[in-house]
Amino acid sequence: MPSRPASERPPEVGLPRVVQTARFMARPIQFFERHRRELGETFRVRLLFGPGEFVFVSDPGSLKLLFAADRVNTIAPGRNVVLGPLLGPESLLLQKDAGHLRARRLMLPSFHGERMRAYESTIREVSERALGGWPIGPTFRAMPRMQAITLEVILRAVFGVQDAGLRDALRDGLLAILAETASPAAIGATIAGLRRLPRYRRFARLVERSDALLAAEIAERRRDPDLAGREDILSLLVAARFEDGSQMSDAELRDQLMTLLLAGHETTATGLAWTFDLLIHHPTTLARLTAELADGDRTYLEAVITESLRLRPVVPMTGRLLHEPARLGGYELDPGTVVMAAIGLVHTRADLHEDPYAFRPERFLADGAPETYSWIPFGGGTRRCIGAAFARMEMRVAIETILRSVELRAADPELERPVRRNVTISPANGTRVIASPRADGRLTGG
Ligand code: HEM
Repeated sequence: MPSRPASERPPEVGLPRVVQTARFMARPIQFFERHRRELGETFRVRLLFGPGEFVFVSDPGSLKLLFAADRVNTIAPGRNVVLGPLLGPESLLLQKDAGHLRARRLMLPSFHGERMRAYESTIREVSERALGGWPIGPTFRAMPRMQAITLEVILRAVFGVQDAGLRDALRDGLLAILAETASPAAIGATIAGLRRLPRYRRFARLVERSDALLAAEIAERRRDPDLAGREDILSLLVAARFEDGSQMSDAELRDQLMTLLLAGHETTATGLAWTFDLLIHHPTTLARLTAELADGDRTYLEAVITESLRLRPVVPMTGRLLHEPARLGGYELDPGTVVMAAIGLVHTRADLHEDPYAFRPERFLADGAPETYSWIPFGGGTRRCIGAAFARMEMRVAIETILRSVELRAADPELERPVRRNVTISPANGTRVIASPRADGRLTGG
C-alpha cells in the first residue's frame, strides 16, 4: 500500500501481524467488533496473506462510493486464492475488467428474479424428499441436511442433470472435491511446487473426473433439440449469446458451473442453518412464522430471511482493490489500497439498525425493505452476488416446506457460536435441532 504519514491514514490495529492474522482467522466477527470499538468505524488490519494490508469500511456513504466504482476497481487480490485452481480462469467470481463485464452480461438474465419461479417446484420437491430421511426424536445437526438440499438444488436447477445415475456420480465427485477444499490443507494446492504431492494429485484427479462428467453433460445439452424448452441455468447459458453473437465455450461453461456450485451451495446452506438457529431460539418468532405460513402469508417469512441475513451474514466481508484515489471513511486512500466492505459491521451499526444484536424480523415489516447500503449480505455494485434472488427464493421455499412437515426445537439452550469456514461464517456445532412431526396438522398437505 502506498505510504502516507500515519496521521493521514486510517488507525491501525496495534497488534503484531501474526497475532492479527491468528485472531482474524479464528474469530473474524469478534476481531472486527473489538477493533471497531477501539478504533472507530474505519481501520487498518495487517495480515500475513493476500495484499497484507486491508482498510475496513462500514459506513453506508463509503460503501455506496466503493460499489459505484466497481468498473474502475477490481476484486481484492487473493480473492479465493484457494479456489482459483478449481474454479478456472473464466470464473465470474475471479474475472476482472472487460472479461468480467462480458461474462456477467451474458449470465445476468438467467438469474433474474422473475425467472426464479421456474425453480420453486424443484426446490420444494428436493426439500420434501430430504425431509423423508430426517431423524424424528433424536438430536441432529441441521447444517449437513441443508447442505444436502442445496447441493441437490444446484445439480437439478443449475446443472439441470436429469439422469439419476449421472446425478449420483456427479454428487459423489463434487462432495469429495468440496470436502478437500474445506480442509485447511487446501491452501497447498495453490503452491505449484506442492501440487505434485499425493494429496494434491488426488485432488487433481477428483477434479478431472468431475470435469469429464460436466463435459459430457455440456455436450449432451448442446445436442439437445429441446434446449429452448429447458429452464435450468446450464441450458440458458448454452443458449445465450454474447453481444458479438458468439457463445460460451465448453471451458467457460465448465468454469461457470464450478463457480455457481462453489459460490451457491455452502452459502445458501449456511444461511438456512443460521435462520433455523435463530428461529428455534426465538420460539415466539417461530410460532408467529408458522401461523402466518398456515394462513398462506409469506410476508413475515421474507422479513425473517432478511433479518437472519442481517444478524448472521454468511459472508462477513468483500474486498476491492482501488485503481483510483478515493475518499472513504473520512480518509484519502491511494490507488493500490485494498478496501474491505465489512458486511458484518454494517449490519450491527446501532445508527442503522435499532437494537442491532436483537433478532427482530418485525423491524423489516415496519420499515419495509432495508436501505441499500445498510443491508449488504450479497455485496454490491457490478460484482453483487448474481445468485441473490436465487438464494432468497431457495431459502423461502425450503424453510416453508420444512416447517409444513416438522416442528423444530433447539437441542441446546444457547445460540450457536459463529466460526469461520472457508469464506463463510457458520454455526460452530451445525445448529443442533430436534424434530417432531407437526402435531397440529395445520401445515401438512397444503
Ligand atoms: C445466502 C446465500 C448467498 C450469499 C450470502 C452470497 C454472498 C455473496 C457475496 C457477498 C458475494 C460477493 C459480492 C461482492 O463482492 O460485492 C457473492 C458473489 C457471487 N455469488 Fe453469491 N451468495 C449466496 C448465494 C449464491 C448463489 C445461490 C449463487 C449461484 C447459484 C451465487 C453465486 C455468486 C457468484 C457467481 C458471485 C460472483 C459475482 C461476480 O463477481 O460478478 N451466490 N455472493
